[in-house]
Amino acid sequence: MLKSQDRVALKPPSKSADKTLRMNLVAAQPRRRSLFKSKNGTLPFWDAEQIHPKNDSKPAGANAYLARLGAFNKGLLDKPPFTLISLFCGGGGLDLGLSFAGFGTRVASDVAPAFVDSVVTNLPHARACKEDALELTKAKLCKIAGTTNIDLIAAGPPCQSFSILGQRGALADPRGKLALKYFDLIAEVKPKAFLFENVPGLLTVNKGEDWRTLAAYAKQKTGYHLHFARLNAADFGIPQIRERVILVGFREEVPFDFPTLPSGPGAAAIIAALAERDGQGIPSAWALSDVDGLPNHGIREHGPRVRERYRKIEPGARDRTDHTDRIDPERPSGTVLVGSGGGGGRPHIHPVEPRVITVREAARLQSFPDWYVFQGTSTAQYRQVGNAVPPLLAYEVGEKIAEAIGRFK
Ligand SMILES: C[S@@+](CC[C@H](N)C(=O)[O-])C[C@H]1O[C@@H](n2cnc3c(N)ncnc32)[C@H](O)[C@@H]1O
Repeated sequence: MLKSQDRVALKPPSKSADKTLRMNLVAAQPRRRSLFKSKNGTLPFWDAEQIHPKNDSKPAGANAYLARLGAFNKGLLDKPPFTLISLFCGGGGLDLGLSFAGFGTRVASDVAPAFVDSVVTNLPHARACKEDALELTKAKLCKIAGTTNIDLIAAGPPCQSFSILGQRGALADPRGKLALKYFDLIAEVKPKAFLFENVPGLLTVNKGEDWRTLAAYAKQKTGYHLHFARLNAADFGIPQIRERVILVGFREEVPFDFPTLPSGPGAAAIIAALAERDGQGIPSAWALSDVDGLPNHGIREHGPRVRERYRKIEPGARDRTDHTDRIDPERPSGTVLVGSGGGGGRPHIHPVEPRVITVREAARLQSFPDWYVFQGTSTAQYRQVGNAVPPLLAYEVGEKIAEAIGRFK
């Protein structure tokens, strides 16, 4: 049940409140140039000085991307210095990336049991919470976590919440309450920081009203210091064009900047490869090589007519019958989709073979290392991968959050 003060907070903010809110939300620094369609000027830029790493004369390897993924091994997850509660965890893309940045998932919570199974089987400190988020309380979460000292709560609530948030009666719809519930839990648990991620459509749906309402609610409910950015995975050397809006809040006022370049294991070679390719991004072919025998690599059998159709589609073109895109091997792929067909799109067509990509191939484009195995049915696996934040994008943001938390008094 929402309290009356929450109802007040949910009124669309007045123009002056809006201005204050904009001033409180510190956008990422403006970029000079991005090939991946920064509309709001918040994407990373590349310039000659920055992309040629100093003191590193090593040329970019033929497949710097797979070498980088291989360097993100499970051993990096031992002894995480920070505690993380993950809500709406899905298959764990956000969790995995944040774990590499030192945030050990203590609670992995999602209403879909198979998704939670993926997280707890892959992340060594994660404990399952297979409940509807609307039923969660501080007591329940901290009991599972085994501590009340939580450094970060991260979540990407389902996107439909926002398309109905601004509509009349939206709060009576359970989906409309999920994002708000997330900020209620932040106010209760009071972690050092929170991370909220979503699709870029959030910024424009309902003429931006839902985003303003949500950000105002986050600010009023938590009192945290907020920062947001719109980041594209391709700018961080992930071979996929995928944008995410990220809102980060801190309990204390500390300096914080969003990442602008790939960092960590294998980053120098990726930065060099991006420079060599004149900012065209990492080719999807790099992600799709050497997959035979890996887990989650069951190939979907198509009938002869579909195979014949797929065979004729040019790389980068679309099949007119089922609206599936064929990957261009020379470019980053389009956004990896959930693959259900029922409104969530379908898996892309393989660049060379007349078939859709497998779960493992989609996971490669999303920057999941090969040791990360997805549980559940094939449909559930495609959904987990298609819904995920690319782990290496989450890693970059996590590193910056860890840095900022280190500055807490
Ligand atoms: C966009 S996905 C999250 C993806 C995840 N952040 C990642 O990086 O892999 C949203 C998730 O919210 C979950 N969800 C939807 N309704 C829920 C509810 N009422 N309670 C808990 N989880 C819910 C879905 O099962 C889905 O896994």
